[in-house]
Amino acid sequence: MGPLQLRCLVLLVIAVFTGSVVHGDGLGRTLTSYSGLSESYYQYTCPQAEAVIQKAVFDELDKDDEPAPGVLRLQLHDCFVEGCDGSVLLDGPYSEKTADANSALDGFEIIDIAKAAVEKVCPGVVSCADVLAYAVRDSVLKMGGEYWEVEVGRKDGIRSDAAQAELYLPSPHFGVTQLIDNFAKKGLSAEQMVILSGAHTVGSAHCDKFVNRLYNYNEEYYTDPTIDPVYADYLRQQCPQTYDNSTEVDNDAVTPELFDSNYYVTLQQNKGLFSSDQALLYDDRTSHAVKSLAKEHGKFTKKFGEAMRALAAIEVKTGNEGEIRKCCREVNH
Ligand code: HEM
Repeated sequence: MGPLQLRCLVLLVIAVFTGSVVHGDGLGRTLTSYSGLSESYYQYTCPQAEAVIQKAVFDELDKDDEPAPGVLRLQLHDCFVEGCDGSVLLDGPYSEKTADANSALDGFEIIDIAKAAVEKVCPGVVSCADVLAYAVRDSVLKMGGEYWEVEVGRKDGIRSDAAQAELYLPSPHFGVTQLIDNFAKKGLSAEQMVILSGAHTVGSAHCDKFVNRLYNYNEEYYTDPTIDPVYADYLRQQCPQTYDNSTEVDNDAVTPELFDSNYYVTLQQNKGLFSSDQALLYDDRTSHAVKSLAKEHGKFTKKFGEAMRALAAIEVKTGNEGEIRKCCREVNH
C-alpha cells in the first residue's frame, strides 16, 4: 500500500469513527461531509427543493431585507439545542422560543414562507430543519456572503423545551474559556467558534446584552477598559442607564449590513459589541485567528461556509428518527 492509499485509509477510518468525511466540491475546495447528510439527498424525491426555497427567500428579502441576520442566527439557536432538528421553530407555551436566551429571535416568517413554497411542489418531503439550512445560506448570500453547498437529510424533532435553550446557548457575557467549552460540547473547535462569531458582522443587538460594559463595570473600572472610549460614548448615547430595551445597536459598528470580515477589524479597534466578541482578541487561544481573519476577507467568507456546514450537522436526526413536519411551527399529529 502506497503513502496516498494509506492516507486515504486513515481518513476513511477517522471518518467512520467521527461520522464525517472530507471531499472536494468541484471548485477546488475541500469540504467535510457529515454522517447521514448529503448535498444530493433530495435529488430524486424533490430535485426542485433548493431552487424553490432560494426563490422564496430571495423574493421575501427583496421586499424587506431586515430579517436576513435573524434567519442566520436561527441556525445556531436551532443546532445548539436538541441538535439541528427545527426545534427552535416550534410554537408552544414552554417551547425554545419562550426562553430568555431566545427573546430576540427573528426570521421565522421567512422559514414559514419557504416551507410553504416547497410543500407546494413536494408535499411532506423536505424537513423544516433542511428548509432552515438552505434559507440560512441564502440569507447570507443576500447579505453579500459567499455560496456554500448545503448538506441535507435532517428530520424534524418533536421536542422543544425552553430550559434546554437556557442551558446550551452561549451568553454575550461569556469569557473565552466558557465560549470554547460551550462550542466544544457541540463538537466545534475554538477556531470554528471564532469563525462563526464572524456572523456578528451583520445584525443588531438590544441594550441589555452589553449595557453592563458601559456603567459600573467593576470595582476598578466604570467602563469596560477593552471598549474604545469614543465607541463607549456612542453606546451610552444609544443605551442610557435608564435604557429602553427596544433600542437596537448594530453588531458591526462600521459595515453593519455587509457580510464581510470587518467584524474582526472592529475587534482590533476595540469596537466589539459584546464581551464575548471583544474577549476573542485578548486570549492567546483565539487572537491569532482574529488577526488572520481580519487580514483576508476571502479567507473569512470561505471558512464561514465550511464552519456553517459543521454547525448545521450537530446532532442531526436522520433515517427513522424524527419526522417531516407539515408546518414548521407544530409537530404532526
Ligand atoms: C459565540 C457565541 C455567541 C454569542 C454569545 C452570541 C450572542 C448574541 C446576542 C446576545 C445577540 C443579540 C441579540 C439581541 O439582543 O437582539 C446576537 C445576535 C446575532 N447573532 Fe450571535 N452569538 C454567538 C454566536 C453566533 C453564531 C455562531 C451565529 C451564527 C452563525 C450568530 C449570529 C448572530 C446574528 C446574525 C445576530 C444578529 C441577529 C439580528 O439582528 O436579528 N451568533 N448574538
